Amino acid sequence: MNLIALSERILSKLPPRMAEAMYRAAQRVPRVRRLLESEYADLLESAPIPDPAADTVFATIPEQPLSRDEIIDKVTALAAVEEEDGRQGRASGAIYHGDREHIKLLNEVYAVNSQSNPLHIDLWPSGVKYEAEVVAMTAAMLGGNETEDEIVGTVTSGGTESIIMAMKAYRDMAGIRNPEMVIPNSAHVAFDKAAHYLGYKQVKVPVGPDYRVDVGAMARAVTRKTVVVAGSAPGFPHGVIDPIAELADMARERGAGFHTDACLGGFILPWAARLGYDVPPFDFRLPGVTSMSADTHKYGYAAKGTSVVMYRGRELRRHQYFVATDWPGGLYYSPTMAGSRPGALVATAWAAMLSMGEQGYMEATRSIFETGARIRAGIEAMDGLRVLGDPLWVIAYTSDTVNIYEVMAQMANRGWSLNGLHQPPAVHMALTLRHTQPGIAEAFLSDLAAAVDEAAASGSEPQTGSAPIYGMAATFPARRAVGDLLRRYIDKLYEPRWASQSMPLPPGEVPERGEGDEGPT
Ligand SMILES: Cc1ncc(COP(=O)(O)O)c(C=O)c1O
Repeated sequence: MNLIALSERILSKLPPRMAEAMYRAAQRVPRVRRLLESEYADLLESAPIPDPAADTVFATIPEQPLSRDEIIDKVTALAAVEEEDGRQGRASGAIYHGDREHIKLLNEVYAVNSQSNPLHIDLWPSGVKYEAEVVAMTAAMLGGNETEDEIVGTVTSGGTESIIMAMKAYRDMAGIRNPEMVIPNSAHVAFDKAAHYLGYKQVKVPVGPDYRVDVGAMARAVTRKTVVVAGSAPGFPHGVIDPIAELADMARERGAGFHTDACLGGFILPWAARLGYDVPPFDFRLPGVTSMSADTHKYGYAAKGTSVVMYRGRELRRHQYFVATDWPGGLYYSPTMAGSRPGALVATAWAAMLSMGEQGYMEATRSIFETGARIRAGIEAMDGLRVLGDPLWVIAYTSDTVNIYEVMAQMANRGWSLNGLHQPPAVHMALTLRHTQPGIAEAFLSDLAAAVDEAAASGSEPQTGSAPIYGMAATFPARRAVGDLLRRYIDKLYEPRWASQSMPLPPGEVPERGEGDEGPT
């Protein structure tokens, strides 16, 4: 038996805190640490490390400049493989629109604005217009036109930054020591990142059997120190919508702010409601909702790198801003985390919204929801799988008979890139416009049926791809060990691709990859 398996056996008999302490203590013993390192390395051997199949590796800046054509050839060769993969609609989330003409429009808008930096509004006043209009359009879509209050916001680099910014605003407005946030444990990990950076105490409330959080349990978690409560519409893992109206009322009664995380649903649920789907209220029409996040770079169909964070009233937004009045570099103000910001990406978000229009968003939502219903029904009809909760278009499922991570790995062998979940072990697929193409839902369901059969044949222990790591992560009692493994995985991604070659490269020299040469792995 290896050390990880042995530790799992011993530590799982201990209360979680003691298991963590034992792991820390064991790590201090050099021999144990060395053994663990080698076992982590073995585990990571099976982890899928992307191979970009590049013909040339650059370890240093080339002495002679490459020509424009050489560079374009290299990037188009790399992108061609990825585009083909993505276009087939085999990934969960990730590519939300993907139509060639749509991407071409975004690219053209980007190209026109590639130098734009909203930090220098004197040089690029158009950036101010694009950002203000993206915020206004998003706020109006999310109930901003149906409340007396002014709904304001900013564009950020993505859902995570939107959530961090909102949490910063609540923290700074409250101005108390040791502020707390109360969130469902299904809330996106961006709240953990916010707590980590901003010094919050996080109180996480477990979700119920329907994967929605219980309002009473959330209320009991609120204390004098709670400055914000949050819920998701929907949550990333199971795609279900928390009881936002009740949670927002509860937070309001207790004098706390309430953030609806609609990063995933913000640009799809309003249209679903208009199409007649049963969508509970989740936006600024609810008086208790004091902030929201909605991602333009997901179902807003913009290029990657934008999201909108919104507030009920300017005062809260002001607490998001950063200003410096005594810096020798001048008077400085910045609305979000970054200093210089990509104005071109804001322009693509603006262009995506104009090019979709209400009609485009409605049509997109209709086809995604119809495909979602078909896929959900197909999974429900499948022996060995069980759908979690009552999802609409982000569909999570598990199995009571086969190892679900092995099913995920078998799907990966068939080209499907699904999201692994844990607590409980499950897999999900967030449907996008890519999956509404003819034949994709059918291919998904038939591959899934085959993957379940193969998982059943392979026995209970996960065998392939990331399955062993998920297997370890799902059950290992010392969570610090799982974190250590993940840190080493990130290290591996930064390892130069040539590291596995026997000869170190002389500085500046690049290996050419010959035909049929698999290259470094
Ligand atoms: C509900 C939810 N919130 C926040 C995020 C974070 O978004 P991003 O990856 O753009 O930072 C996601 C991402 O999937 C999400 O699904």
